[in-house]
Amino acid sequence: DYPYYTNTKQTKDLNKIHILINKYLYMPNNYVPDYLDIIDSKYTNGTKKLVMEAKIKFEEMVEAASLEGYTVRAISAYRSYEYQKGLYDNYAKRDGIKKADTYSARPGYSEHQTGLVVDIDNGVTDYNHFEDTKEFNWMQENAYKYGFILRYPKGKEDITGYTYESWHYRY
Ligand code: DAL
Ligand code: ZN
Repeated sequence: DYPYYTNTKQTKDLNKIHILINKYLYMPNNYVPDYLDIIDSKYTNGTKKLVMEAKIKFEEMVEAASLEGYTVRAISAYRSYEYQKGLYDNYAKRDGIKKADTYSARPGYSEHQTGLVVDIDNGVTDYNHFEDTKEFNWMQENAYKYGFILRYPKGKEDITGYTYESWHYRY
């Protein structure tokens, strides 16, 4: 119940699959997860990395989707502290800190730095509208079978501290 980014603590679960990162729990600036692996380029736009276990399950999931006629690809996965800092600072400059905090994590506080998160699209529709795609419905029905959940759901903004993100999946 503390205001966001107060009473913050460093996570004790670095390199654990169950690591929890939110607006109170952060990773060190120099934290890079062990066993990052490059996702097969046929499932991404550009070079993207995930922790090996998440990468394997992601590829299985996308392959299964593909066999059923759905296109799912990774558009963002592991992001370093420095990369997240660049993103967040740009958003804060553009929209102000208060607004930026509703949709972007501060550096050290982004789940993307865990290497267990992937943002996806269907290769056609802008990711901001992923919710309107048939691939989104497929993910709703199937993502959990591969260990992925939609991390920032609609209606849970009070709990997550982030606006709804239909494209952001946590392993
Ligand atoms: N967009 C999500 C909250 C992040 O920046 O990690
Ligand atoms: Zn994301």
